[in-house]
Amino acid sequence: MSTSAPILHLIAAVLILILSSAAATDHIVGANRGWNPGMNYTLWANNHTFYVGDLISFRYQKTQYNVFEVNKTGYDNCTTEGNTGNWSSGKDFILLDLAKRYYFICGTGGCSNGMKVSVVVHPLPPPPASSSKGAEHSSAAAAAVGLPGGGRGFVMCVFYLSFWLGFGWI
Ligand SMILES: *[C@@H]1O[C@H](CO)[C@@H](O)[C@H](O)[C@H]1NC(C)=O
Ligand SMILES: *[C@@H]1O[C@H](CO)[C@@H](O)[C@H](O)[C@H]1NC(C)=O
Ligand SMILES: *[C@@H]1O[C@H](CO)[C@@H](O)[C@H](O)[C@H]1NC(C)=O
Ligand SMILES: *[C@@H]1O[C@H](CO)[C@@H](O)[C@H](O)[C@H]1NC(C)=O
Ligand SMILES: *[C@@H]1O[C@H](CO)[C@@H](O)[C@H](O)[C@H]1NC(C)=O
Repeated sequence: MSTSAPILHLIAAVLILILSSAAATDHIVGANRGWNPGMNYTLWANNHTFYVGDLISFRYQKTQYNVFEVNKTGYDNCTTEGNTGNWSSGKDFILLDLAKRYYFICGTGGCSNGMKVSVVVHPLPPPPASSSKGAEHSSAAAAAVGLPGGGRGFVMCVFYLSFWLGFGWI
């Protein structure tokens, strides 16, 4: 291996980190129709796949509507009691940092007119299948899977580095 190879590997790893971080998706609720009454956001949600590290964003008239994160009871009954977050800027970006089902509703009355959305956030896609030798390092990549925001890029970076350490140096 030439002496410049480690630098090239490092540059490649950093590039992968940057490029794949940019791949985290911002899901705009209702697309160009935004967060408004009279929509069926179940149809919108069914059309999207959410992964840990993605954003969900709500765009609306802040004098009329807002966003609350609630549990299933709040979603089903349009109540904000026990909510775990509220936003009201009119252009809210919310990080989906856990693999779970999230529930959001409007807290100003719009909920009963359809302003409610529930999304399932999936764990990061598994890293590509590797050889048995690469698998020795997979625990480091697996440990990184739970990280919030930008986690996908971080996992790929760690995975790349473990591949490099496993094959380039030994
Ligand atoms: C929205 O669409 C879903 C899926 O087709 C349907 O099950 C649900 O009843 C609809 N909700 C309303 C309020 O129309
Ligand atoms: C689902 O996605 C397709 C392709 O982006 C789009 O044309 C369609 O309008 C979407 N449907 C809904 C209900 O958002
Ligand atoms: C939700 O609303 C339904 C119907 O209004 C009611 O029967 C039920 O008790 C409510 N559940 C909670 C937890 O408030
Ligand atoms: C949702 O939160 C309310 C208020 O804290 C609580 O009474 C209710 O049991 C919770 N529902 C679920 C499904 O966890
Ligand atoms: C909204 O969230 C803030 C903290 O971010 C909290 O202080 C406030 O009480 C919340 N409002 C409601 C109505 O839950």
